[in-house]
Amino acid sequence: MMYGDVKRKVQIEPLPESLALQVIDIYHVYGLEHQNKVVALKGVSFDINKSEILGIIGPSGSGKSTLLLALGGMLKPIAGQIFYSDGTDITKLPEEDQFEFRRHNIGYIFQEQNLIPYLTIEKNIEMPMKLVNTPFAKRKQRVKELMETLGIWHRRAHTPKRISGGEQQRVAIARALANNPSLIFADEPTGNVDIETSTQILELFNDLKEETETSFLICSHDPIVGDFSDRTLEIRDGILIGEHLEGIDLTNLDSSRFLVLDNQNRITLPENALKQLQGTLLYTWDIIEEGLILKPFGKTDEKRERKIKNCTTCGVEIPKGSYSCPRCGAKLTRVVR
Ligand SMILES: Nc1ncnc2c1ncn2[C@@H]1O[C@H](COP(=O)(O)OP(=O)(O)OP(=O)(O)O)[C@@H](O)[C@H]1O
Ligand SMILES: [Mg+2]
Repeated sequence: MMYGDVKRKVQIEPLPESLALQVIDIYHVYGLEHQNKVVALKGVSFDINKSEILGIIGPSGSGKSTLLLALGGMLKPIAGQIFYSDGTDITKLPEEDQFEFRRHNIGYIFQEQNLIPYLTIEKNIEMPMKLVNTPFAKRKQRVKELMETLGIWHRRAHTPKRISGGEQQRVAIARALANNPSLIFADEPTGNVDIETSTQILELFNDLKEETETSFLICSHDPIVGDFSDRTLEIRDGILIGEHLEGIDLTNLDSSRFLVLDNQNRITLPENALKQLQGTLLYTWDIIEEGLILKPFGKTDEKRERKIKNCTTCGVEIPKGSYSCPRCGAKLTRVVR
């Protein structure tokens, strides 16, 4: 998919009927004012369809949580646009409107569950409904329904620290679903639960997707999430490098990956391809029916290789023999002619 020709929108107009979210060219840098800044997102663009479970996979530190926080309006990216189906660009909403917008439209399951420690779990789940003034009886009914579905009704009177990690996770999920949002962002939702509970959670997501057109964006390393996802995006060093369709095998990503062109028409090659290309800086290319062939151009030039000593993104020194920055993960640039 290519987004290079997407024009920046100013006027609010709804997205095409089939889309739940459109993300255009998101950049984020942590610690801008400090020396040791981290470039966490480097131009991320993609769409989420209505009624879709979209997975995001990538190594630790690749930018998954940062991306999710930006999509939910909890972090303001330094550049880029994030359009919801009604045309709202959440990056441009004033902070006070963002709270309101989020309460009505988004369910968010944090990597750290963020439950309110002094409230019972029943009250934790009820809270988002109180915030949108749902009547008492309706709130009680919805809480019971969610807690029963997630198997935590018997724990309703406990506070979060008195239940297990897996139960806390289910409370966080119930809370995210409480207001029937059309979009759910979930950061490692099956991180703390056993395989049986993971399956139940994902089956619930799947039912909601089919019955209510809800869309899900799920960051995870859990193979079971891959089984339930309609599509999976692969993120590496803050860039989307690949897309996979249903039936992804997390232990063999190379078998199902489609490479993604970023908004500047660059491709980031997967790790195994980079390893094979190590030492050679110039390539020629041929287009064939199945795709593109890269061929090393000339011999390895040891001197040229060592000329680049510092990362162009964050400035840290890159050790000998390494082709990516140990701090921010940025890759050394290779030239293709
Ligand atoms: N508040 C912060 N201040 C500075 N750097 C941060 C901050 N939060 C994250 N980072 C850095 O930004 C990069 C992306 O982090 P992020 O948390 O988005 O990764 P992730 O893919 O969610 O990782 P994990 O799988 O471990 O949860 C990392 O290099 C991380 O160290
Ligand atoms: Mg994370």
